[in-house]
Amino acid sequence: MIAKVSKKNLDELTGKGFSVKVRGKLVKGFVVKKGGQFYAYMNVCKHLPVTLDLNDDNFFTFDKAYLQCHMHGAMYEIETGFCVGGPCQGARLEPLKLMEEQNDLLITVPESSVEK
Ligand code: FES
Repeated sequence: MIAKVSKKNLDELTGKGFSVKVRGKLVKGFVVKKGGQFYAYMNVCKHLPVTLDLNDDNFFTFDKAYLQCHMHGAMYEIETGFCVGGPCQGARLEPLKLMEEQNDLLITVPESSVEK
């Protein structure tokens, strides 16, 4: 399944959550921008299955150096999704493939993101 996210309001060090239906189930992901590059991940913390931003599109630590889950504070590297601090240290966010079009990002959410 492909999710389309507009690049228009995605400024440097901001993020946007999105959701798509995969096999009838709503799956959430997010995309952030850093250094002019876009990074997309499943919006599921590796500690507990909640969204990192708690649905307000704030995916960062206060200093914007890391992604952060706002439930218990797990910190993830922006470029790799590796958890470098918090209750799930050593785990990794699930990355999503992303393609850039002129005005949009096309993000592939795999069928495997929904359990059978
Ligand atoms: S649910 Fe994300 S750190 Fe606990």
